[in-house]
Amino acid sequence: MGMLKALRGTKDILPGEIEIWQYIEQSARDIFSIYGYREIRTPIVEEAELFKRSIGECTDIVQKEMYMFKDRGERNIALRPEGTASIVRAYLENYSGQSPHIKKFFYIGPMFRAERPQKGRQRQFHQIGVELIGSDEPFRDAEVIYLAVEFLKELHEDEKDFCVKLNSLGCENDKVAIMQKYRESIKPILSSLCEECRTRYDKNVLRLFDCKNSECNKILEDVKAENALCAACTNHFELVKEYLNDWKVKFIIDPKIIRGLDYYTKTVFEITHRKLGAQDAICAGGRYNNLIKDMGGNHTPAIGFAFGIERLLLAIEGEPPYHMDEKLDLFIVATGETLYNEAFKLLNFLRRNSRYSCDVFFEEDSLKAQMRKAQREGAKFVIILGDEESKRKKVLFKNMDTGKQEEVEHNEEVILKKIQGKIK
Ligand code: HAM
Repeated sequence: MGMLKALRGTKDILPGEIEIWQYIEQSARDIFSIYGYREIRTPIVEEAELFKRSIGECTDIVQKEMYMFKDRGERNIALRPEGTASIVRAYLENYSGQSPHIKKFFYIGPMFRAERPQKGRQRQFHQIGVELIGSDEPFRDAEVIYLAVEFLKELHEDEKDFCVKLNSLGCENDKVAIMQKYRESIKPILSSLCEECRTRYDKNVLRLFDCKNSECNKILEDVKAENALCAACTNHFELVKEYLNDWKVKFIIDPKIIRGLDYYTKTVFEITHRKLGAQDAICAGGRYNNLIKDMGGNHTPAIGFAFGIERLLLAIEGEPPYHMDEKLDLFIVATGETLYNEAFKLLNFLRRNSRYSCDVFFEEDSLKAQMRKAQREGAKFVIILGDEESKRKKVLFKNMDTGKQEEVEHNEEVILKKIQGKIK
């Protein structure tokens, strides 16, 4: 029988790699809490209907990429393709009775989309995101974008390497007007687009820009729909830009930032990174002022973003400082089986009291082999239990850095004192 492998588009994150993940996640937890966000964890499985209603029936995510299945009770279930819909569901379920109040959530976890895997694109990928619920103030848009940039700086990213791209889709009415403008300018070239684009033209013209066919992309490149925002939305967008300028956040305006999810209104943005290939969006987000109402809540404006962790990894690859130390600090070796139990007792004591990583490797039967293993693991100290010493209630204590070896009383407290504060 053939050996089983991880599914296409999924990956194991191994010791040695996990340290970078932990470093990214910890940096996110640290900085997001400073900005008043609290972590939320929602289930990975939800009713498929949740994503259909929020992300939109005509989107690629729902049409082609969402993992859906019927559970044993014949319910339609989906693996979450993104976080925002679930956060909105959780917000409505747990907080909607409360008086209007700003809520700030962040989340870290796996998402699932059945896309064609390539560099920076997986079927199980991971996002770090925030959602700020309960405000339409332009300074909140700026605050959220500022946080995304600060997070990248926290990870030691250079401003020269990434680019914030900004656009506004306007309110509900503006979106209708924008779509109308796009429909008008696309109409004359419609016959040159692929069949799918032609269907999308009628259903939701904005979804044409998600087409993965490069010929369609080329044809649509010059299509524009400018000046479709109402006065209030123009003003809102101007204020967002003003704040960002004041706060020295560099950005460019890109009318092509339309986003592949239907729930967006007003400000939308993406951050691209120079070190990534074709999939260069490291972060994306925007406002979704109508989503909570559309999902059955009160009118509650909101805004958020999500970073792709795999893409963050590609961006920061090889850049310290993260903790890559996966070695053991301390080894106990013993010359023979009769001493194993003594060694285990000492091991249990040191594991509980020193907080250093310690182990024994009695699988390697010779003392020499055990010492070699200790060397390979980069142990700082080795405690040797030998027949000779044990008769005199002593152990040999070896400092692996200096090579110095000395006899020490076989006493747990004495040994603990010798190593305490010596390992960083
Ligand atoms: P999104 O643009 O679909 O937005 O995804 C956000 C980020 O997740 C992308 O910019 C990318 O870094 C990463 N990503 C997406 N798909 C994949 C994939 N297949 N493989 C690897 N990375 C991927 C959202 O998901 C929105 N929920 C963001 C948001 C939050 N908007 C408001 N709040």
